[in-house]
Amino acid sequence: MTLPVSVLFVCLGNICRSPLAEAVFRHMVRQRGLEDRFVIDSAGTSGWHTGAAPDERSTATARRRGIELAGRSRKLMAADLETFDYVIAMDTENLDGILALAGKAGGARARVHRLREWDPPPDDGDVPDPYYGGPRGFDHVQDIVERSCAALLDHIVAEHGLA
Ligand code: 4NP
Repeated sequence: MTLPVSVLFVCLGNICRSPLAEAVFRHMVRQRGLEDRFVIDSAGTSGWHTGAAPDERSTATARRRGIELAGRSRKLMAADLETFDYVIAMDTENLDGILALAGKAGGARARVHRLREWDPPPDDGDVPDPYYGGPRGFDHVQDIVERSCAALLDHIVAEHGLA
């Protein structure tokens, strides 16, 4: 029995983008019948919303597409960077926060990526922060997250021979 592949999605507040990425990725894993092969979670670099449910706008946008968000916000810990196989940042600021923490958890750098490595963008490579924007921002974020997560899952399936 091989160990599950563990994937942690990380944003700033862990209420908008990373809970969405977690739920979208879990949905895709389930569609492929691979739920026993994965551990999937999310966290925020800030800890500002610790214990809070996902943002209502993120929840509503995802629900319209048949995806339910779950879980409560938690702060990223140095131990996460040693235990998760893949640590996936939503934007450059999150990446910098993760790498600052990874400095204390030596050797973790190779596990850390930005989500849009799997969705080569024409812009800055970030999943934009929708928190202070209008509702359309959440649809845009979800489009990016769905494309990127599908490609990330393909990558992991190939790398770990899960197909
Ligand atoms: P997230 O969005 O990082 O995608 O969860 C944000 C949530 C809260 C804040 C910023 C971004 N905030 O400033 O409180």
